[in-house]
Amino acid sequence: MRLLVLGGTQFLSRAVARDAVGRGHQVACACRGVSGAVAAGTTHLPWDRTNPGPASVTEERWDAVVDVARLPSQVRTAVAGMPDAHWVFVSTINVYPDTDVAGTPATLRLHEPRHTDGDPYESPEIYGQMKVACEQAVLRGAASATIVRPGLVSGPDDNTGRFTYWPWRLAQAHGAHVEVLAPGRPDDLVQIIDVRDLASWIVDLAERRTAGVFDAVGEIVPLGDLLDRVAAGVGATPELTWVDQDFLQSRGVQPWAGPRSIPLWLPRPEHDGLVAHDPAPSMAAGLRLRPHAETARDTLAWLSSTPGGARTGLALEEEASLLQDWRVASSRPG
Ligand SMILES: NC(=O)c1ccc[n+]([C@@H]2O[C@H](COP(=O)([O-])OP(=O)(O)OC[C@H]3O[C@@H](n4cnc5c(N)ncnc54)[C@H](OP(=O)(O)O)[C@@H]3O)[C@@H](O)[C@H]2O)c1
Repeated sequence: MRLLVLGGTQFLSRAVARDAVGRGHQVACACRGVSGAVAAGTTHLPWDRTNPGPASVTEERWDAVVDVARLPSQVRTAVAGMPDAHWVFVSTINVYPDTDVAGTPATLRLHEPRHTDGDPYESPEIYGQMKVACEQAVLRGAASATIVRPGLVSGPDDNTGRFTYWPWRLAQAHGAHVEVLAPGRPDDLVQIIDVRDLASWIVDLAERRTAGVFDAVGEIVPLGDLLDRVAAGVGATPELTWVDQDFLQSRGVQPWAGPRSIPLWLPRPEHDGLVAHDPAPSMAAGLRLRPHAETARDTLAWLSSTPGGARTGLALEEEASLLQDWRVASSRPG
């Protein structure tokens, strides 16, 4: 297969390129090349997508194209230039506005599309609306297409640093009596997908020219179980102290990502559905998932060997101060 990856210098798109090269495909990565190096064995085709695509990209014949863009104008231009390939477009579960309910692409409604470019990092809504427009451009313009909508992607090379917080934090609990703050309730449902499993499935979908729309999500699991699996993966035995979400919110702790945040924590019940999408349709279409402990182990190994590897979440001093205040607050009668 002649595969064109639009991107290829970061996390997921680089993992796709690496996986495809490993299977013996001819792989080119079209991007500026400023976010990192393309995977070994691939060809770098220099392209800044704010300009029209060079002939080396748009006039070549590609069997499949994988695109991870967030801006509708970039996707429209690329699809118009290469309409005959099979497209695998990487979207997001943020295309669904109803974050309180779980479901599948067949049961959940979508945001209205936003066809003009905006800042995808401004809000989950704008990001989701633009991804809907990108999906529509692909579905309307390409000869055949797969849309994959990932939930939280985790694993080595993660430039967002979200899941990475947990292997890093729990790995520090090697000795006895190391207390770790766990957010919300142990039975809050969550899900993650390993970047390598997602990348491998994307290459499968491209090889088979599978048409359809799928959520790219992992096993639905209670947060308490996931943290136990992460701890097992990094060889740690933490003592988790579960801290109520109202308390965390009252102390200005942010959910999900960023400074003073706790990754994998989302306010409930308004986000009960966002990280509990049914993986069954995607597994029926070939998605295979590795154990969470393996993802945790490999993420920690990557972080430990990568100067400047990304990790978001609470600083240790912030966590210690919150635990101290929580002990006081939760010991007060009534
Ligand atoms: N991480 C998650 O948990 C998560 C969850 C849901 C969905 N997703 C989706 O998964 C995908 C992640 O993709 P990714 O890991 O490869 O990261 P990404 O941040 O989407 O990667 C962007 C890629 O596009 C290239 N690029 C950016 N601007 C460009 C431009 N102007 N011209 C040409 N190329 C440009 C970058 O290369 P250069 O900068 O080198 O040019 C890089 O290789 C995205 O579609 C995201 O929406 C992620």
